[in-house]
Amino acid sequence: MNEVLNSEEMRPLTADKIQKLNKHLHFLQNEADHFLGYPCTREFDYQTLFQFLQLPMNNVGDPFRASRYHLNSHQFEREVVDFFARLCGADAAEVWGYVTNGGTEGNMYGIYLARELFPQGMLYYSEATHYSVPKILRMVNARSIQIRSQYNGEIDYRDLFETLKIHRDLPAIIFANIGTTMTGAVDNIENIKQILKQLSIKHYYIHCDAALGGMLLPFIEGAESFGFDADIDSIAISGHKMIGSPLPCGIALARKKHVDSISRAIEYIGTFDTTISGSRNAITPLFLWYAINTKGFDGFKKICQRCIEIADYAIAELRAIGIEAWRNPNSITVVFARRKVPEIILKRWQIATEKDFAHLITMSHVSRNHIDRFIQDIRQLDQEVA
Ligand SMILES: Cc1ncc(COP(=O)(O)O)c(C=O)c1O
Repeated sequence: MNEVLNSEEMRPLTADKIQKLNKHLHFLQNEADHFLGYPCTREFDYQTLFQFLQLPMNNVGDPFRASRYHLNSHQFEREVVDFFARLCGADAAEVWGYVTNGGTEGNMYGIYLARELFPQGMLYYSEATHYSVPKILRMVNARSIQIRSQYNGEIDYRDLFETLKIHRDLPAIIFANIGTTMTGAVDNIENIKQILKQLSIKHYYIHCDAALGGMLLPFIEGAESFGFDADIDSIAISGHKMIGSPLPCGIALARKKHVDSISRAIEYIGTFDTTISGSRNAITPLFLWYAINTKGFDGFKKICQRCIEIADYAIAELRAIGIEAWRNPNSITVVFARRKVPEIILKRWQIATEKDFAHLITMSHVSRNHIDRFIQDIRQLDQEVA
């Protein structure tokens, strides 16, 4: 690691500090080579954008309105929003969005809008929902009920029907998963709308948590429809997952008419406060913009196809050593029984676990070689123990 001193006030790092940084860099590089369990690709290269890191950039305020703070990347952010809006079946004139700090912030945004729209509403979410959602519900003080999940992680439609029936006098806020965290299951929006119709619930809001699935399903032919063309109200997608970024990021999209109801003009920044954070990352919109413009729809489509092929390869290889593995349709999350793989191997490969399940996720950096080495590690340990 080379040090660059760019001001008189700076003093050089001492040798032990440089050594500390180098040691950590090597640790990270080694760990990144054993990175199988979490939905973040390590395959990206934003070095072209390095010079932007030398400016105090900040995307404070609404990306679609001029602001007094000019050191921003709003014009790139708008293009990123436009790309995702089209990906999610939106008529660009109807939908608004911004680049968030990640999927969690996008979910918070959707829940906040829904709660503002329907203060008396009841929010329904499945037990397979991401752990951050109950926390968000407490933060925005939204009334909510947890619905059972099926074995594959998809919401239990029968339980949803029965629960909605009891509260059919209240506006319904549906929090749908477009790829659950543990098993990549997709809640079927058509089924959910059908249930609302059967119960004659006229006032409802549907938010889709498409943290991973939002950058997967649109590239798979015949995959479930989850976007604005399926008549939903807001969506959250993570940017650092499928696209990849060294800084966490995501996209929040919502119908403009809902956003208008929470928008406030702020004199201090000379613009509108429509986002959750005040100061916002101006670098991540550049990363996303760069990825979109260098890969394009066709590039992402190829990446998704390759990820699915590797997921199937992983399933076949795990089964070949007697470990039953499976994935949901249109998912790259490979699920297997936690007890089948020794804890030491789960840790070495950073495999995520929850209750009886473990999963690996074949993000774009995961190759057949990674899977082979993972399988080899399991085999070797089995032999040593035998
Ligand atoms: C389904 C789902 N929703 C939300 C999140 C949170 O997203 P982020 O980590 O980008 O905040 C995750 C993260 O893994 C997720 O899997």
